[in-house]
Amino acid sequence: MKALILAGGKGTRLKPITHTIPKQLLPVANKPILFYVIDQVKEAGIKDIGIIISPETGAYIKEAVGDGKRWNCRITYISQDEPLGLAHAVKTAQPFLGKSTFLMFLGDNLIEGGVKSFVQEFESNSPEALVLLKEVLDPRLFGVAELNKKGEVVHLVEKPKEPKTNLALVGIYLFTPQIHQAIAGIKPSWRGELEITDAIQKLLDMGKKVRSHILKGWWLDTGKKDDLLEANRVVLDSLLKRDVKGDIDSKSKIVGRVEVKKGARIENSTVRGPVSIAEGCLIKNSFIGPFTSIGTSTIVEDSSVGHSVILENSRIHRMERLEDSLIGTRVELRRADERFKTVKIFVGCDSSLEL
Ligand code: G1P
Repeated sequence: MKALILAGGKGTRLKPITHTIPKQLLPVANKPILFYVIDQVKEAGIKDIGIIISPETGAYIKEAVGDGKRWNCRITYISQDEPLGLAHAVKTAQPFLGKSTFLMFLGDNLIEGGVKSFVQEFESNSPEALVLLKEVLDPRLFGVAELNKKGEVVHLVEKPKEPKTNLALVGIYLFTPQIHQAIAGIKPSWRGELEITDAIQKLLDMGKKVRSHILKGWWLDTGKKDDLLEANRVVLDSLLKRDVKGDIDSKSKIVGRVEVKKGARIENSTVRGPVSIAEGCLIKNSFIGPFTSIGTSTIVEDSSVGHSVILENSRIHRMERLEDSLIGTRVELRRADERFKTVKIFVGCDSSLEL
């Protein structure tokens, strides 16, 4: 079996930060979301991985992931010249996929517990496709599945205006090569894309077996700011272990599950976990509250930060209460006026703000 990871697209819903960083490389607990995806693929026993990249951000993905040695996997990069849909990406990857069955994984999706059991289920039951579903509050934002009384998939619709169920399609699928025939038989949707949802519906129309599995654990889809903060919260909450390697002075307190990487320094500050602080950070006269990740070489001084993701090489100065914020790389944030207390910010890279 092969894997196809989709790491193209424009990251429109995460602008301005995705002007300079592909959304799949945005960090969750200081590790790019795409790295968790590759971990999960590897853990399922798949070593031959194709990664779909776009002309705009492909170079960043290649630089970050490299040749896959770190995971002991073989990585093939496949360029999708235009974002014409998930099924179009599969079509583009056809020479790589050949006659192989494959796991398709959207590079900004993540599920609790990984995908190993679904790969095994697919291999032992041999349907034409296996889809993962999750109950969601607003199914209009996703592909939606209808099941019959026996729990079999009978109908799929992409982003329906009036959804028949609350079961969203998770961005993780298993296919046999039959999917290529189904893709050949579909037309672009109203948004001008070849939808994988339509291709799976086509499999059903062709009388093929499509199995489904309803997820009980968490599913993270990090396409928007609040989703990324939520992913950061969930991953810190469920995966982070206490690991303090940095330099902590005697006036500081590190409480609970906190990761302080080597070369980071905490001075006269309190850090209350779960929190991840990367290499080379300086935290001075500050409070870092739960569900916060701070990227490499960022400086936080005279500030209080909580439930936020700050990327590398930024400088936060005199922010009395910085919350629910996503801050890019090399951002300079400084409060000059005492009247501003709680501040919620979503700012891209290379910015400078004085409040
Ligand atoms: C895509 C799929 C959709 C699926 C979603 C999961 O949506 O088209 O069926 O539910 O991923 O993340 P998109 O991100 O292209 O809007």
